[in-house]
Amino acid sequence: MLELCGLVKHFPVASGEPVRAVDGVSLSVARGELLALYGPSGSGKTTLLMLIAALLAPDAGTVMLDGRDIGAFSARDAARYRLLELGFVRQSLNLISGADVIDNAALKLLGTELGAREARRRVRPLLDRLGLAERASHRPEQLSMGERQRVMIARALSTDPKLVLADEPTGSLDTQRGDEVLELLAEVCRERDVSVVLVTHDPKAASYADRVHTLRDGRLVDGELARGFAPADAK
Ligand SMILES: Nc1ncnc2c1ncn2[C@@H]1O[C@H](COP(=O)(O)OP(=O)(O)OP(=O)(O)O)[C@@H](O)[C@H]1O
Ligand SMILES: [Mg+2]
Repeated sequence: MLELCGLVKHFPVASGEPVRAVDGVSLSVARGELLALYGPSGSGKTTLLMLIAALLAPDAGTVMLDGRDIGAFSARDAARYRLLELGFVRQSLNLISGADVIDNAALKLLGTELGAREARRRVRPLLDRLGLAERASHRPEQLSMGERQRVMIARALSTDPKLVLADEPTGSLDTQRGDEVLELLAEVCRERDVSVVLVTHDPKAASYADRVHTLRDGRLVDGELARGFAPADAK
């Protein structure tokens, strides 16, 4: 379903060699599959997700989704792709403090022609599924960090995307809460046959994945490892 072929992204640096943030990455993700990308800070994980989201253009290589070349999209098509076909849980929480939980979860749908009522109606079952039913009318500041992260997951899934990118979705949580959130993300995406690319530092996180790839200095350093992989250099 998702196919990355020879992806390269270098960032120029004022003096010296450019940073080779992504340096020739090829991989594919099947429908409904959860791929974890494991790698140290600065290894290019976020840059790779930005390329998949068409938020950055590659210097070389292609991102194909269901046979379409994401890099060939017009700005308008790319925006539509991000709005409707992709769920992106970013590395930092991005909640609107003036809006309640349901509107935060429905934010993407509120940007479509559906209308506010219908947008809210559609995210209700997701809030229920993510254990946030009682929280719908609360403000983000009233929620725990784990609950806030679940609102971000609800938003990512709100448009019924085929592909979800999750960038350290548990970075702000303690280990136990982080595990719970990841387990829920994995479960809900499996139920909906959504493909997931999950970026993480957490070796336990990798155990929820169907496959794990390790990224180092912009390159995949291991072919592919089986489920249950526990990296030797894990904290
Ligand atoms: N816009 C940019 N301009 C210049 N360099 C950048 C830019 N974005 C990322 N980089 C560099 O590219 C490399 C990869 O960064 P990236 O953010 O993809 O790493 P990461 O694996 O997501 O790290 P972390 O785990 O800390 O989030 C780093 O060396 C970073 O400094
Ligand atoms: Mg990152």
